[in-house]
Amino acid sequence: MSRSRGRLAAPVETYADDIENVLIKADEIEAKLAEMGEQITRDYEGRRLLLVGVLKGAFILMSDLAREIALPLEFDFMAVSSYGSATRTSGVVRILKDLDFEISGRHVLLVEDIIDSGLTLLYLLKYLQTRTPASLEVCALMRKKGIQKVALDVRYEGFEIPPRFVVGYGLDYRQRYRNLPYVAVMREDPPHSG
Ligand code: IMP
Ligand code: MG
Repeated sequence: MSRSRGRLAAPVETYADDIENVLIKADEIEAKLAEMGEQITRDYEGRRLLLVGVLKGAFILMSDLAREIALPLEFDFMAVSSYGSATRTSGVVRILKDLDFEISGRHVLLVEDIIDSGLTLLYLLKYLQTRTPASLEVCALMRKKGIQKVALDVRYEGFEIPPRFVVGYGLDYRQRYRNLPYVAVMREDPPHSG
């Protein structure tokens, strides 16, 4: 049952100077993904589901979640980048890697690591909607509480968290910490790193 996730990852003490505390433990994430996977399996029964992961943050979530979904699945990825801090207010997102396949008529589930202002997600949803999928829903591991600037309909939401900067389980600060098996709060909220 257990995939012994994170056995090779460095212990919390290694990052003691940078990390304030563990917010979501590896086994809590595992339990949540099992729940979400079951729900997704029920909801998409009999339909061809395409998971679209948003790189890089969602790569670990995508991999673990997919193995909790008992349906034939197809995968695609997009990579996006913020225009520095301006993005947080403007919502302008640069597409670094577009989809490999057409999504017209497909059931698409967009897999995101975290929703902060919500602007990245809003942009992506608008962009994907123009390609006329049969359906388009969102699965996000985390949503920061009370700070979204836009109304978003997130069908599958893992954890609601305080509006602090977090790392681990795919999320980075300056490209590091992604391989932590848990989600941790940084000691100091750094400026947005994209
Ligand atoms: P939004 O457009 O403000 O919702 O920001 C979404 C993107 O910013 C996410 O996909 C992450 O890449 C990044 N991000 C937002 N908050 C955090 C955080 O707390 N830690 C790491 N990355 C974050
Ligand atoms: Mg990032």
